[in-house]
Amino acid sequence: MKILVMGPPGAGKGSQSQKLIQDYDLSHISTGEMFRKSYERGEDLGKKAMAFINEGNLVSDKITNEIVRKRLMKPDASRCFLLDGYPRTVTQAKALDVMLSEMNSKLTAVINIVVDTDIILERMVGRRVCKACGHTYHLKFKPPQKQDVCDQCGGELYQRKDDQIDSVRNRLSIYESKTKPIIDYYKGRGVLVNINGMQSFDAVYRDIKKALRDLT
Ligand code: AP5
Ligand code: MG
Repeated sequence: MKILVMGPPGAGKGSQSQKLIQDYDLSHISTGEMFRKSYERGEDLGKKAMAFINEGNLVSDKITNEIVRKRLMKPDASRCFLLDGYPRTVTQAKALDVMLSEMNSKLTAVINIVVDTDIILERMVGRRVCKACGHTYHLKFKPPQKQDVCDQCGGELYQRKDDQIDSVRNRLSIYESKTKPIIDYYKGRGVLVNINGMQSFDAVYRDIKKALRDLT
């Protein structure tokens, strides 16, 4: 199973991916998460990337394609993977096609989670993320059992800098101009499914699983 999960910022890509990777035993490849981890490790790549991320801008295609290529070459990813937040430009989608054809592989499903802007803004402002394991919460929709503490690992929860309103608006506008065109890129391949992301976590997950069953 080789799945791509796409959708605007705050659509629920990460939340749904966390469940999918467990149920289907997939390697989770989230470019956003990889950049944040690299920053936490104090690496130059992470520092460079974070300057773009905090403002809500995209990291360059060249840097992003390189980290994905390296990650896909690791043994666990060559079998089954879930790409979360990559590709995010048509240039990246083309680069991914080259990588997959070199691996003699292709995508099983492209899951496009659809959510309206007003709902996205509410989700971003209330999101909290675990510093240690990256697990995602929401103050209203998915609160942790203990305030500011991760249910999964006991790590500290924080608010991402790019979840501030100006950065979110910039991310949404970049999504419209740079990322949305990818939907057309995948149309006609028989793998693209639109999922209504404006439902409960469980209902969205149920629809994704049904789509995966239909495609495999
Ligand atoms: P990334 O980390 O991928 O951020 P994003 O795409 O903006 O998406 P988010 O992680 O913000 O949202 P999500 O869809 O995962 O939603 P979540 O599940 O958390 O990328 C960050 C940055 O890195 C980018 O802006 C860019 O700068 C850079 N970058 C990354 N990849 C790149 C690439 N390929 N090329 C160039 N640059 C790249 O949910 C959001 C909130 O809503 C949570 O609080 C959650 O609990 C809640 N929620 C989710 N689903 C529901 C639901 N059904 N009901 C109620 N609440 C819900
Ligand atoms: Mg995410």
